[in-house]
Amino acid sequence: MEQAHSNAIADIIWTNVNLITGELTGQGLVTAHNQSVVVKDSKVTAILDQPLESVLPEAKQIIDGQDRWLSPGLIDCHTHLVFAGSRANEFEQRLEGVPYEVIAKQGGGILATVNATRSASEEELLKLALPRLDALIAEGVTTVEIKSGYGLTLGDELKILRVAKQLVNHRPINISTTLLAAHAVPPEFKGKADQYIDLVCNEIIPQAAEQQLADAVDVFCEGIGFSPEQSERVMLAAQAYGLGIKAHVEQLSNLSGAALTAKYQGWSADHLEYLDEAGVKALAESNTVAVLLPGAFYFLREQQLPPIDLLRKYQVPMALATDFNPGTSPLASIRLMMNMGCTLFRMTPAETIAAVTSQAAKALNMAEMRGIIKEGMAADMVLWDIQHPAELAYQFGSSVVVQRVINGHITEGGIHV
Ligand code: NIG
Ligand code: FE
Repeated sequence: MEQAHSNAIADIIWTNVNLITGELTGQGLVTAHNQSVVVKDSKVTAILDQPLESVLPEAKQIIDGQDRWLSPGLIDCHTHLVFAGSRANEFEQRLEGVPYEVIAKQGGGILATVNATRSASEEELLKLALPRLDALIAEGVTTVEIKSGYGLTLGDELKILRVAKQLVNHRPINISTTLLAAHAVPPEFKGKADQYIDLVCNEIIPQAAEQQLADAVDVFCEGIGFSPEQSERVMLAAQAYGLGIKAHVEQLSNLSGAALTAKYQGWSADHLEYLDEAGVKALAESNTVAVLLPGAFYFLREQQLPPIDLLRKYQVPMALATDFNPGTSPLASIRLMMNMGCTLFRMTPAETIAAVTSQAAKALNMAEMRGIIKEGMAADMVLWDIQHPAELAYQFGSSVVVQRVINGHITEGGIHV
């Protein structure tokens, strides 16, 4: 099929679409009405104001977008999607007033999921991850970042990353993997966090790099996680092995983890409820993306809001993600995060759209390839049954995906001419 048409100018042309490019400027979201998007060999090869008659006959397939909106595929740039076990019991405890940090100190929280995940085989973890991924795919997500962090041994951390990478063999999805071995001090190292960090830096990071299982390294810099000094050691090791740097910072307190992440040109600093102005300036200077996670804010019933006005003032790119995990955000919906970005964090709908497309791509260091519909970029796109872009943030729950396109292939629905 591909061979027979190899001389065609295009594989697919979408005509009569209104484009949400994914870009956000001072003037707002960049959009364009009545466009045609030409796709060949998994990439967008042209965007035409008017369909050129000479091009159209040479396409293998022409799709009339029927005046619908076409956006980049959505990107969920922060998840902990691969884990076993449930934390519903902890949810009940928290509703009775026991704080998240107290549950963690009592050996629950992250460590409860670590126990369950260590006992699970790769096959079991894969089986558990697929329905979570399917929920995101059904909403128009085409790229997902997945962190390890529920293994906390060399073998178990690599096992989680292998499962994350295998997902592309089972679903049409792009996956970015992040090693989060520095998520919590494992029980075997209780009271010996520095020694655990030795293991992370001297064995786990080098192995993950050598086996090409991780694109980036993450660390939980927090009172119940790791100190700034320990976090810095993790970042230095990541840098030494050529891996990207990300960090969970300023979620429950301000340890100046964002400035630390910026010092090492981190791809992103995530959570940020307790971020101060100095931290915002540091992010702005290093062009590190602020990844905001309203699901965790909501689920933990936090009161401290991330400093959205300051992030705007210093023009720090803002991304949104689900933080899908069993403890603080068991919410597999990027559209819900867009809604919460507006309702809880007072972001504009336009900001939330950029936050799950162009800005999320920057948080994964893939802005050259994904997150914007533009000539030369991967053809990851969603055709939506909406009247206005703001609808993507305004409602969630009912499906408005008409077609999902990943690397030039249609994976959902279809309204062929
Ligand atoms: O992003 N903050 C640390 N890590 C996760 C929570 C993990 C858990 O509770 O299982 C988060 O919120
Ligand atoms: Fe997280």
